Amino acid sequence: MIIKNAKVLSSILKKTKVSKKEVATKKTKKSANTAVNSVKSCAVNIKRKKLLGYLIKGFKFYTNILQQGRIQSIKDGVATVSGLLAAKSGEMVSLGALNVKGMILSLQHNTVGIVIFGNDRQLKQGEIVSRSFQIMNIPLSKDLFGRVVDSLGNSIDGKKKIQSVINRQIDTKAVGIIPRKSVREAMQTGIKAIDAMTPIGCGQRELIIGDRQTGKTTIAIDTILNQNKNGLLYCILVAVGQKKSTVSQIVELLKQKNALANTIIMAATSAESATLQYLAPYSACAIGEWISENKSHALIIYDDLSKQAISYRQMSLLLRRPPGREAFPGDIFYLHSRLLERAAKLNDAFGGGSLTALPIVETQAGDVSAYIPTNVISITDGQVFLESELFNQGIRPAINVGLSVSRVGSAAQVKSLKQIAGTLKLELAQYREVESFASFASEFDEATRHTLFRGLRLIELLKQAQSSPLEVEKQVILIYAGMKGYLDSIAIEKVDAFKKTILHNVDYSTVLGSFDKNEAIPEDVFKTFFEFVSKKA
Ligand SMILES: Nc1ncnc2c1ncn2[C@@H]1O[C@H](COP(=O)(O)OP(=O)(O)OP(=O)(O)O)[C@@H](O)[C@H]1O
Ligand SMILES: [Mg+2]
Repeated sequence: MIIKNAKVLSSILKKTKVSKKEVATKKTKKSANTAVNSVKSCAVNIKRKKLLGYLIKGFKFYTNILQQGRIQSIKDGVATVSGLLAAKSGEMVSLGALNVKGMILSLQHNTVGIVIFGNDRQLKQGEIVSRSFQIMNIPLSKDLFGRVVDSLGNSIDGKKKIQSVINRQIDTKAVGIIPRKSVREAMQTGIKAIDAMTPIGCGQRELIIGDRQTGKTTIAIDTILNQNKNGLLYCILVAVGQKKSTVSQIVELLKQKNALANTIIMAATSAESATLQYLAPYSACAIGEWISENKSHALIIYDDLSKQAISYRQMSLLLRRPPGREAFPGDIFYLHSRLLERAAKLNDAFGGGSLTALPIVETQAGDVSAYIPTNVISITDGQVFLESELFNQGIRPAINVGLSVSRVGSAAQVKSLKQIAGTLKLELAQYREVESFASFASEFDEATRHTLFRGLRLIELLKQAQSSPLEVEKQVILIYAGMKGYLDSIAIEKVDAFKKTILHNVDYSTVLGSFDKNEAIPEDVFKTFFEFVSKKA
């Protein structure tokens, strides 16, 4: 640019040159010389001024293309913009006369790729794009609790605007190794089958995976309800690509159960742009980190990450990134790993807070070997696998015990529950083994018959209606009944009624007060209680 300016300048100077001959005809040689000299110095002055002017213009232009750009093309919420040479990846920009917000997602040689948060129909080719000098951030405030917000932190529940004084970058590096501590406190979901067999600890990442309509969201919502009833965790529910009606039903349910006050709902529904759907988990995670850094425990539910992956694929293809396995771009693993890595249990020097993540992933026909499920399974510390077949048989929550694991949570499991449920998974696994040939054989030995008998009752025992999370003490008592054989003499159809009798009697007896969940089970207290209940049943 500067070279170009110099060329223009020399052409102008040529025009301003005064020939000696012209001057000599009018004056004497001497005076002509002085005149030429003065004209020369004048020309030099002009030359300097103009050069300076051009340099300033050139400099202004140069700084402009560093800080500003023009829209080259725009489609489907993604704009290609020339200029903006000094802009950073992840920086917020404002586009066009209406100041539509966007974020820089890819930096190319001469252009940048920008994803647009607002309506891209308000923008035209050639419009100016300016930097904001701010990396994408979200406002934080206590007022967020009990509210429904969009991916940028704006309220969308029709109530008053959320006021905030602090902002936090949404896409930051996960907390390092030094501030962390191993998972040690139990995060109770209130669901017997999960708390007993795949326990989750505060700071853990546990995947909820299953086909469509297998009760994934229900597990997440029940966990939130349980925090209100029996827990201490602040909850954040991120609804990505869900229907607006589903989100409003969830809000209504939480309101009914008085669980909305300690919950933040971040919704990027299927009606929103792919950009907002991609961003929502990161924004919500920033809020979760803020809670955990303030010595509190937070739970974040990403419902669901497959929809986020799809929106990221859509954006990436528009940004002309090459597709990889199953048409997802190559960095999709990084997309999910850097998000889930931000879940952490902090050590006491850093406040001792935690951020527990429950990502949800949808499978197609139970195929866990697809790209996104395998990715997220390898990133998380275990998974709760839900099966359509079990769901349709009426086993709800439809947890496949064999495929569900929790890699770190058992260290944090409540002691009494660990003591009684230690062999529950094994008993169910043995049942599944003999179940497959039970339909063919007519006669069994005593041991097989016992396994079948016990297994069926345990499955019945672990069934749980939705929106009815149980306190851990009650879970211990129910599982004790199953494991110690108090259900063995009852017909399958009557197990449910027996469960209700137990829970009813628990409320009127001293058994709950007589044991500490963090200590070993007092066998004698339990025995007297169950002898009493068995007589009643
Ligand atoms: N434990 C349960 N007991 C009874 N019904 C249940 C239970 N869990 C889930 N359901 C019912 O199953 C249906 C599907 O549940 P949910 O919406 O949680 O599934 P999902 O896997 O999240 O579905 P989607 O794939 O559409 O997101 C709902 O109608 C819900 O009421
Ligand atoms: Mg769901």
